[in-house]
Amino acid sequence: MIKDQLVGKKILLGVTGCIAAYKSCLIVRELIKRGAEAKVVMTPSATEFITPLTLATLSQNEVIVNTFPPSQKDGTNLSTWHIDYALWADLMLIAPATINTIAKISYGFADNALTTLVTALRSPLLIAPAADVDMFNNPINKENLAKLENLGHYIIYPESGELASGLSGEGRLADANKIIDAVELILSGYSKDLIGKKILVSAGPTYEDIDPVRFIGNRSSGKMGCSIAKAAYLRGADVTLISGPSSQNIYPEIKMIKVRSASEMENAVKKEVDKNDLLVMSAAVSDFHPVRTASNKIKKQGGTFELKLELNPDILSSIKTKKTKIIGFALETQNELANAKKKLKEKHLDMIVLNSPGKESGFEVETNKVTLIRKDGKAIKPPLLSKFQVANKILTEAKSFF
Ligand code: CTP
Repeated sequence: MIKDQLVGKKILLGVTGCIAAYKSCLIVRELIKRGAEAKVVMTPSATEFITPLTLATLSQNEVIVNTFPPSQKDGTNLSTWHIDYALWADLMLIAPATINTIAKISYGFADNALTTLVTALRSPLLIAPAADVDMFNNPINKENLAKLENLGHYIIYPESGELASGLSGEGRLADANKIIDAVELILSGYSKDLIGKKILVSAGPTYEDIDPVRFIGNRSSGKMGCSIAKAAYLRGADVTLISGPSSQNIYPEIKMIKVRSASEMENAVKKEVDKNDLLVMSAAVSDFHPVRTASNKIKKQGGTFELKLELNPDILSSIKTKKTKIIGFALETQNELANAKKKLKEKHLDMIVLNSPGKESGFEVETNKVTLIRKDGKAIKPPLLSKFQVANKILTEAKSFF
């Protein structure tokens, strides 16, 4: 078991007045579930959509709405709550952030409890805007967001889709899971250090069909590859994910190419690889496929069934690229280091991630224990980490190739 990165972290959640305010309940609940401490500050308009009592109950803390709380008037409060909160926080998240609050923050206004607190903040600030499509695309809002981003604040942009007004377009609050991933990323000390980089990731198993009903697969869930794609996106990269059959959720901003077999994955990788600065080949590609795929369901006959398999092409070995850096994975159960080093050399990789399946590592688990071995021989052995944290270690190491 590893310690969740959010355990004990102190998070201020700012909630502003828009219909997406109800989603702040899911965010605060997840933060608490993962062991963080949360204190909520709401704008007066936010209370038109959701009550302070709801957020107080979920955060297990008093919610601040007024700059001058009632206790201040009877002299029982020191009246520096905004400074105390600002110093307390490891991170402040505003979700949802309306265009009004974004405008105020970008101009340094301190006209309500939330904006006053922001002016005193020392910790990182993560802003998750939400608005109707034309409000969000308003050039002044875009200018304000750009200004905040240039000041070093982190913006988690809204998604496109159906909006409360019935219109469709950009403006829907980013998915709560993506916001929490961004919180974790920032609290772990990562930033948008991959802006301008194009990263191609392969993930999941491949399925080799025997007949219309049966296939040969493997135990890969796609979690490791998806974590790499997500972490790379949050760190600013332009990400393409080639995924074999997998039930993992991925952010809508990540270009997704779905494949089934090793040969489909090979075609997709070959088509995309030169468009990218880095390929991370984390897919568990099936080494064999049936010599013949039956077009109808094979009926059982007698007690045994023989299936003839032939070797799949090795995708990594067949890639001919000069500019794209390549990271491969090695799944080993014996002679691990020697086998991984052999693959690193034979497949002409810049780095290999040695992965040893076990109880807390490898397939179908949330954590992974890896060794990163670079072309120059340097090996990095992080402790047991979540797959998201492993993904970030891999990306940080990859940065030195660019
Ligand atoms: N790989 C690939 N094409 C294949 C098989 C594997 O590109 N047909 C890639 C994997 O995505 C991974 C690396 O090669 O990045 C190593 O995969 P692994 O399964 O550990 O090893 P194999 O090369 O298949 O060798 P073996 O199964 O004999 O260990």
